[in-house]
Amino acid sequence: MVDVAKVLDEAGVNNPHVREYVTYWAGITEPAAIEVVNTSDDARLVAEALEAGELFPAGEGRYYSRSYFKDTARSEERTIVATSDEGDRGTYNNWRDAQEMTQAQTDRMRGQSRGKTMYVVPYLMAPPGSPLEPYAAGVELTDNRPVVLHMIRMARVDVAHLENLEDPATFVRAVHVTGDLENLGQGTPEDQRYFVTVADQRTILHFGSSYGGNALLGKIAHGLRQACYDGRASGRFLAEQFMLLGIVDKQTGAKYHICGGFPSASGKTNLAMTLAPDALGDRYHVEFYGDDIAWLWVADDGRVRAINPEFGVFGVAKDTNAATNPGALDSIQPGSGAIFTNVAYNPQTEEVWWEGMTPEPPADVTGWQDWKGEPIADRAERDDSPWAHPNSRFTTTLANVPNVAEDFEAPQGVPIDAIIFGGRTRDREPLVRAITDLAEGVYDGLTLGAEATFAADGLDGQLRYDPMSMRPFMAYAEADYAAHWLRIIGQATDQPVFAHVNWFQRDAEDGHFLWPGYRENLRPLLWLMQFRAGEVSGRPTPVGVVPTEEELDLTGLDLPREDLDRLLGIDLERWRQEMGFREEHLRQFEGLPEEIWEAHRRVAAALEAAE
Ligand code: GDP
Ligand code: PGA
Ligand code: MN
Ligand code: MN
Repeated sequence: MVDVAKVLDEAGVNNPHVREYVTYWAGITEPAAIEVVNTSDDARLVAEALEAGELFPAGEGRYYSRSYFKDTARSEERTIVATSDEGDRGTYNNWRDAQEMTQAQTDRMRGQSRGKTMYVVPYLMAPPGSPLEPYAAGVELTDNRPVVLHMIRMARVDVAHLENLEDPATFVRAVHVTGDLENLGQGTPEDQRYFVTVADQRTILHFGSSYGGNALLGKIAHGLRQACYDGRASGRFLAEQFMLLGIVDKQTGAKYHICGGFPSASGKTNLAMTLAPDALGDRYHVEFYGDDIAWLWVADDGRVRAINPEFGVFGVAKDTNAATNPGALDSIQPGSGAIFTNVAYNPQTEEVWWEGMTPEPPADVTGWQDWKGEPIADRAERDDSPWAHPNSRFTTTLANVPNVAEDFEAPQGVPIDAIIFGGRTRDREPLVRAITDLAEGVYDGLTLGAEATFAADGLDGQLRYDPMSMRPFMAYAEADYAAHWLRIIGQATDQPVFAHVNWFQRDAEDGHFLWPGYRENLRPLLWLMQFRAGEVSGRPTPVGVVPTEEELDLTGLDLPREDLDRLLGIDLERWRQEMGFREEHLRQFEGLPEEIWEAHRRVAAALEAAE
């Protein structure tokens, strides 16, 4: 048996509640050793992981890791929110009883860390000093060293965060046990994996995966699911799957902040790392605040403010290159400490590669291995499967992001000018449509429909509704969620404008993207800011205000006439049909606020009246 008290004494863990928690779970999972982690341990842990073959060198100060081949994405159907109030049962949260799930997970985890080290990872999911700090502290227990290394990059990790709590008992208890990945029956009826957030106990119990989205508990389970619950329980804030960026107009000195939800693998990271398109000259600068999570509240000055609770970026590798996202490439340079997961790797040259990094894969395949570790040279001629997993990722800390805002750690966050929603939608949704009414904005978020992506197992390409992009992270019933949104944003005296954006419209025939996307996405955002300021008035439509062709800055772009018409047009027939689907979708949410139904009926009536 490990002498837990001695380990905690030596690591300076004095918070009695943390000590009790660690001791309790060590008794359940029975690790061979316990180690308390601080960020300053990174270099040593990296060296150990390299030695153990958990990481491989990928050029100086960069690392490569490979996860088990059936463990490469979040599993939505194995993810559960448990509470002791059945009123929390929603359409998407897979609600279960707290006591039952706690018992089942405890049983599953019993003895499962035998022979391994249990790492104690104390973290903070907020800039220190933030008004939301009381919801931000947590301790992840994990038996997986690469998970620790990811946590150090993605969260603020230090024992001190748990020693100075206002209420020493108030921290999230986040237990991660990897399990025997080769014998968990992933995706079969005998699946052993369960990812449970016992939200009213502020306890997270994840068993059966070492993939980031399932295993970095500070990030998705705490930063999104638990915080979503806490935001309503406290009545104080919203926790959303939102990117957060700033736009600086160097000519006028104005600065705008935009946050917004796009489902996983639909462009949040790229948008926040976007640099202004060269064609617009040197006038604008985009500043990065966050790429996956924002917590929003209304401050005393009547403005919606937002922070990014994270400390790093867990980005999709696919199609990241110098043209699409130069900022991402800069943030993963040699010496950055970046970790690549499930990309292609060459152990001889220590290089990594993924689809879209260069137009063609390396011509000389000597030494190259695909994401499963199979030599490319051994591939059958007809095998054109991707070298990298489509959901392969890079992990890097925010300080490495070249356009990170100077005030990215400001405890008071930044004031929000616009809240946008978007996703992969191949038709119907125009490039941008602005919405000024709060209920219509919330309604728009609730009816966000998009194609699912490879960031969730087995769902790629399916068209589905994904309210505010929170479908996989929703902690309680959607009707209450809608009411909470109306209440929180309704407190603002200076309300942000809402907008729906779509970078992914495609040509019906050849499938090409109508909009060039990536850095060019700044253009519709600039229009939105001008619209908010009353500098342009746009073209009103039943579903919001769209830019006129003259208002949208298209300098340097050469868009075919018909593509531009479709990008800025509203297909009334297609939209009228959509309203029926929306009605069906919203009917699932029993007790939805009447304001949302009114917004729905207003839009439907406007569509009927339009010609
Ligand atoms: P996130 O998971 O929401 O953060 O999405 P990412 O920014 O990581 O992007 C996911 C995938 O979508 C990547 O393969 C990107 O290359 C691609 N992507 C991002 N933005 C755009 C865009 O504006 N247009 C197109 N066509 N693809 C994009
Ligand atoms: P993403 O983040 O939204 O950038 O893909 C990870 C996830 O949501 O799984
Ligand atoms: Mn995400
Ligand atoms: Mn992302």
